[in-house]
Amino acid sequence: MVLHCEGAWLQTENGRLLDAISSWWVITHGHRHPRIVEAIRQQIGRLDQVIFAGFTHQPAEDLAHGLVEIAPTGLAHIFYSDSGSTAVEVALKMALGFWKNRGVARKRIVALEHAYHGDTVGTMSAGARGVFNAAYEPLLFDVTRLPFPSAGREQETLDALEQSAKEAAALIVEPLILGAGGMLIYTPELLREMAGVCRRHGVLLIADEVMTGFGRTGSLFACDQAGVTPDILCLAKGLSGGSLPLAATLCTREIYEAHYSTDRSRTFFHSSSFTANPVACAAARANLEIWKTEPVRERIATLGTLQEEGLAKIRRDSRFENVRRLGTIAAMELKVPDPGYLAGIGPELTAFFHTQGILLRPLGNTIYVLPPYCVTAAELNLVYDAIVEAAGKFT
Ligand SMILES: Cc1ncc(COP(=O)(O)O)c(C=O)c1O
Repeated sequence: MVLHCEGAWLQTENGRLLDAISSWWVITHGHRHPRIVEAIRQQIGRLDQVIFAGFTHQPAEDLAHGLVEIAPTGLAHIFYSDSGSTAVEVALKMALGFWKNRGVARKRIVALEHAYHGDTVGTMSAGARGVFNAAYEPLLFDVTRLPFPSAGREQETLDALEQSAKEAAALIVEPLILGAGGMLIYTPELLREMAGVCRRHGVLLIADEVMTGFGRTGSLFACDQAGVTPDILCLAKGLSGGSLPLAATLCTREIYEAHYSTDRSRTFFHSSSFTANPVACAAARANLEIWKTEPVRERIATLGTLQEEGLAKIRRDSRFENVRRLGTIAAMELKVPDPGYLAGIGPELTAFFHTQGILLRPLGNTIYVLPPYCVTAAELNLVYDAIVEAAGKFT
């Protein structure tokens, strides 16, 4: 049981744990950043929750303006929800609604091999099929799957996209790195080229930045590194600095206008009780202020350097392979006889890391380090020491 948290640390009943995965990739600056905690405290004293249909409030307004300011140019409209899955579900519905309202028969979603977009029915459909969703297969819709653009296979991905593009409603991607699929990295050039194919064929581009948003890949948004403006952008996790559940789906004026009408059949029908919860919006507004007024970008750059220093040991160690980093995220595979997500070693590694006072949660034999930006060099050393020790124990 977790009793308390602060910075990069969790205090459990059984001792301290260094949170090297940012509590499932949500915590950005650190647990309980004082300005976010204070914003929550202030807001709860004024307005805890209110219906957001036909009403608005200051935290939601300020946050919307703040997001439009920092998002890739052209994303001017925002729909709030409360998790990464709902942000993506909303994005898929926006894409389908856009084409339907324009009277164009484009219905097909295109997605990447190994993708993960959430655990609701639509997002599971867009995600890779496997043991996690096999039982729900009868509920899932079919999508066109592009091969993952690993080094040397980029053209295959582009060719497959080109082939499916004429009929596609939207391409959904996790920009630059696929998270739950195994921390698989591809290049900004490829993202730009995929965006180019989408533009040429009028396919909407949905960027799922639920994990990558708010600095994880080294830039505020991963799309920034490719100079790409998607038609729809999904944000959650780090939006509130990871403090409270909140999500936002941003879209272009064209998508907004396709739904904006006195004809109610064109409405974007998605209501969610806690849409734009004022306390969560206030936390996210404080997060944006932190980005504006604290050296967050410098912290991220420093964390990238620290990760590289930690990885230097791993790169020299033949018990690991595919050692890689993107911004603040580092990953590697431990060479084991039965690799893969369901490799028995995953839970064993997690348990071992706990004994070392480290919260890591490998995806099978893929170990990744995704800490909050406040982590220090000394703390990160503890993580890499534990990883090296694990190699000694498990290989
Ligand atoms: C890229 C991506 N999209 C969507 C989600 C779903 O987010 P949530 O767990 O908040 O529903 C995740 C969660 O890890 C994710 O990594």
